[in-house]
Amino acid sequence: MQSSENKATLSFSNGAPSVELPIYKGTVGPDVIDIRKLYAQTDMFTYDPGFMSTAACQSSITYIDGDKGELLYRGYPIEQLARNCDYLETCYLLLYGELPNETQKADFTRMVSSHTMVHEQMQFFLRGFRRDAHPMAIMTGLVGAMSAFYRDSADIHNPKHREISAIRLIAKMPTLVAMAYKYTVGEPFAYPQNHLSYAGNFLRMMFATPCQEYKVNPVLEHALDRFFILHADHEQNASTSTVRLCGSSGTNPFAAIAAGVACLWGPAHGGANEAALNMLYDIQKEGGVEKIGEFIKKVKDKNSTVRLMGFGHRVYKNYDPRAKLMQETCDEVLTNLGLGNDPLFKLAKTLEKIALEDEYFVSRKLYPNVDFYSGIVQRAIGIPPTLFTAIFALARTVGWIAQLNEMIADPEYKIGRPRQLFEGSPRRDVKPLGQR
Ligand code: ACO
Repeated sequence: MQSSENKATLSFSNGAPSVELPIYKGTVGPDVIDIRKLYAQTDMFTYDPGFMSTAACQSSITYIDGDKGELLYRGYPIEQLARNCDYLETCYLLLYGELPNETQKADFTRMVSSHTMVHEQMQFFLRGFRRDAHPMAIMTGLVGAMSAFYRDSADIHNPKHREISAIRLIAKMPTLVAMAYKYTVGEPFAYPQNHLSYAGNFLRMMFATPCQEYKVNPVLEHALDRFFILHADHEQNASTSTVRLCGSSGTNPFAAIAAGVACLWGPAHGGANEAALNMLYDIQKEGGVEKIGEFIKKVKDKNSTVRLMGFGHRVYKNYDPRAKLMQETCDEVLTNLGLGNDPLFKLAKTLEKIALEDEYFVSRKLYPNVDFYSGIVQRAIGIPPTLFTAIFALARTVGWIAQLNEMIADPEYKIGRPRQLFEGSPRRDVKPLGQR
């Protein structure tokens, strides 16, 4: 950490001595005030529910400038990565800090491809779920269960174990998601084919059946690969922070990633693309474009809980750069599939245009996020909405594991232990049952 000449001074109105706090500079982005010794010096905690002003760690992986609408993985803009690299190159970049050269790419691809099968016993574990279980319930269980199947790479303090479990997780997530899907639709599992690309293999495991030859559509393969790149990491979001906090206890990597999967499930986070698509269906059902005005009215009504799903972001106060790339992919996919006039896509574009010109959204800096178009893309590929969040989890696994490994390798790493402002009862005595 680079110290700044600048220091912060905290003074108190009750005459208690003021405290000087060091300030550190990042390579880009806001400086941070180091409050680690604050409690020892003042007997006070800071209060910041929702981490509105708190940097919980130092990291060199992903940087977001929310005002500019910029997203960088290891310094590279997301637009350049999405246009010039594939998902496995992006995974290599996130894990090791640099883009691979040709040999490194070939070795890494071979390594991931040779770990795509899961322990055969996992399918019997999976078969214990109800057929109508939500795929995220299945994924939380399956990823956690990996700690029982891959115990030889479960020591988080061993760098070799960390590397092997990273590869295992990246390689096996598509297999597990596809198995969860096949199970819920009652079709036989399709084993991975290692000669296919990462996205191509996933498409095949999802949609191939033993009775028909399956040919990967290159446009859909490219679209899915881009979806994976756009979702690969997003610095200290809720699920990543969950993975870090869970992993900080020294638990095994599979358990920590399962915690991330559980967190991602929520509609304010990974569940938003499913919610955004359902919102479009609802508007469509009620009359389509004509009903947008009425819907926007509901969204703006303080007494309603309706939100424009796929809009707004804690960090982006500008257009989410991933949303633009996803809209481009949406166009490509729909054109390839002959769905250029898809009413849902038209509805989404009109809704976006109206919201972007509306004072309510403009004044609150609410712009489309990546989820606004990703549901339409996935639906066109044939992926059911209930699987959207599981596919997001698949793509984000590399980010989670890169962040977890970065934390464990950091010499300043400590178990995460937030404090609280206690507002409950002070000490009191238990009365015998008859006197309460
Ligand atoms: N629709 C309508 N109003 C909104 C929306 C929205 N989508 N998002 C925020 N607002 C309003 C809030 O009502 C609030 O208004 P107020 O100041 O009048 O009270 C103001 O904008 C600020 O909103 P907050 O909820 O305080 O912002 P926060 O940063 O906590 O929320 C969040 C971010 C949760 C993403 C929110 O924008 C939201 O719910 N969006 C819809 C869900 C969604 O698309 N989530 C995906 C996030 S991206 C991802 O996880 C990959």
